[in-house]
Amino acid sequence: MIWYALFLLVVQNAAAWRYTDDDLMSFMTLPDARAVRFDIETLDRNRTAPGYWFVSPYLHIEPDEPSSEYEQYQIGPHIYDEDGILIWTGSMQFDNRNVFDFKAINSFDNKTYLSMILQYSYDGGERGYGMILNEKYETYRKLPLRTDLGVFDIHEFNVRKDGKSALVTVYLSEEVELTEFGRPNEKTFLEIGGFAEIDTTTAEILYDWKSYNQIPLSETVHYFLDSVIEGPPGWDYVHINSVDKNEAGDYLISMRFTNTLYMVSGLDGKIMWRLNGVNGGDFDSDFLFSKQHDAKFLESSGTHHVISFLNNASDEEFQEETISAALIVEVETGTTPMTARVVKRYNRPDGDLTRLRGNSQVLPNNNMFVCWSQGGYISEHSPEGDVLMIAKFTSPRFSNYRAYKFEFTGRPTIPPDVVASVWGTDETNLVTTIWVSWNGATDVVSYNFYAQASEFDKPIFVGNISKAGFESMFMAAGYVDWVSVEAVDRNGNVMGTSQVKRTRFPDWENVGWSGYSSQPRPQNPSRIFQSVDGFSTDKSIDDSSFASFDGTAEAQNRKTTQTLATTYDAIRSIGGMFALILLLAVMSGIMASYLLIRGWRVHLYQRVPKEESYAEEERLRPDDD
Ligand SMILES: *[C@@H]1O[C@H](CO)[C@@H](O)[C@H](O)[C@H]1NC(C)=O
Ligand SMILES: *[C@@H]1O[C@H](CO)[C@@H](O)[C@H](O)[C@H]1NC(C)=O
Ligand SMILES: *[C@@H]1O[C@H](CO)[C@@H](O)[C@H](O)[C@H]1NC(C)=O
Ligand SMILES: *[C@@H]1O[C@H](CO)[C@@H](O)[C@H](O)[C@H]1NC(C)=O
Repeated sequence: MIWYALFLLVVQNAAAWRYTDDDLMSFMTLPDARAVRFDIETLDRNRTAPGYWFVSPYLHIEPDEPSSEYEQYQIGPHIYDEDGILIWTGSMQFDNRNVFDFKAINSFDNKTYLSMILQYSYDGGERGYGMILNEKYETYRKLPLRTDLGVFDIHEFNVRKDGKSALVTVYLSEEVELTEFGRPNEKTFLEIGGFAEIDTTTAEILYDWKSYNQIPLSETVHYFLDSVIEGPPGWDYVHINSVDKNEAGDYLISMRFTNTLYMVSGLDGKIMWRLNGVNGGDFDSDFLFSKQHDAKFLESSGTHHVISFLNNASDEEFQEETISAALIVEVETGTTPMTARVVKRYNRPDGDLTRLRGNSQVLPNNNMFVCWSQGGYISEHSPEGDVLMIAKFTSPRFSNYRAYKFEFTGRPTIPPDVVASVWGTDETNLVTTIWVSWNGATDVVSYNFYAQASEFDKPIFVGNISKAGFESMFMAAGYVDWVSVEAVDRNGNVMGTSQVKRTRFPDWENVGWSGYSSQPRPQNPSRIFQSVDGFSTDKSIDDSSFASFDGTAEAQNRKTTQTLATTYDAIRSIGGMFALILLLAVMSGIMASYLLIRGWRVHLYQRVPKEESYAEEERLRPDDD
């Protein structure tokens, strides 16, 4: 025994030494899921845009080796509300795989869909997919990348507004001669950046483009004339990290290792212009940037373009400015020289640098929502630049590449999850606790709880509560079984009903059960609670029998009701007046013996007399008719 305890202690300490897990949520109803927690500072709730946060936490940017230890699902696509309350975890659905660029899109019919990149699998068995889910979280499209374009890259899955195509970044590897670098007899493998436009129905490639022969090696800030040659995948000389397309059919791409945004002609694939870069680019520009991410058109017509991007201004090796910022810039290509001007700058609230990854999103009300990536750091800014909200994962163990904020209505097809358990030490204090959650349902306002006398009896309403967090808990006085829960929306409509679940019970003897019977039995809920019909028609409900355990109901009332019900059930099972008399006689006998024993014990243990149990029995009598 001692050895076992010691063993446990060692094991627990080893686990604690690795990390503590108070940075993760846990739920009775979804025991396999542990969602990452947020620390949130809301500076002005009145001005934040409506919507949910779309994040996909990861532990490592490469797929993790499947663990042989049991560990709950933690990473993958997640939706939270502005208070950091979990709305949906897709971790189980995607088997704890890394997911990137998870967001809501309005590209198909009039409903909001979800899009994301499912990363290639650890064993390489799957090359990854662009996934589109419907509002029920079912797969609507699962798009592979044509095999000659490599694995599905994690940077970008940009479903176009018309829903017909999506833009993705592409990484390819080729062996090239270093003639350009004045090393004609040498060859190195080169990671070539590119992009492709995929048909969202057929997964056909509608357009693809590669950096090699378009962007010379001399534009990279990552490799030099004397850089050592590499085997595959080779020099990552451009590192493409975003792609967007305008109405005219031209593409805006961001290359992190050339510090340049390029406009690529959709007609002939030629580079139309460069913003920034080793040679300064093609613009008269009033701002600097480097190691940028997520360049997107806010407007693009003719010679006028408004572009948003994240300027992290630093990376693993370099640091060009002292603070990362989301930028909105205006680019004019009809003038000589062409001009580029900063319209807005949103500095990282903690004044730090984002060295890796991130994105920026202009919201419908013109607020700026930024993901600074590491530690899940996100912020929302007013158009004037006021910081409205700052949040990050409680845990430094997790990161998030891109985060977004969108309005969304989730309608899961799976029913709400319910778990019920009963506890108590005797018939007077039995309590059934019911937990409920509904993974992915966005607009649940309250829950109705029901219990049944048996599988075939009709559900009896036992109470209702407002939704509280991802998981809500309700306590019903007594021992009820065959439990079910309805999820209710703002207008009182039932949105979904759980399956009927049996109530779990403990090993009564081991938890110190000391009731009349050797172990309690589930009670007929209609004896304790009003029936559903009764509830809605009969307005004169006795409060003591309405068991909403919201803290206002008096404990005494509950106890009384409970004891009453127990007695009723006992009487019913024996049947008839005779049984009642018999029962009263037996109870008096028990009472007498109890008093005797108690009297004796008072001498031995100096126990403080407790009057409660008499009072209980006294109150019972008038009702025993
Ligand atoms: C938010 O709006 C409410 C109601 O309009 C107002 O009472 C409150 O002062 C506002 N809070 C802030 C921080 O502006
Ligand atoms: C989308 O909504 C518009 C306007 O409300 C309507 O005209 C159109 O028929 C809807 N389309 C679909 C596919 O439901
Ligand atoms: C910052 O630069 C690093 C280094 O390349 C890059 O990985 C990262 O994505 C950049 N982050 C931002 C926010 O630009
Ligand atoms: C519980 O149901 C009653 C009757 O429908 C309703 O008036 C009350 O608002 C509900 N309470 C909660 C917390 O939903």
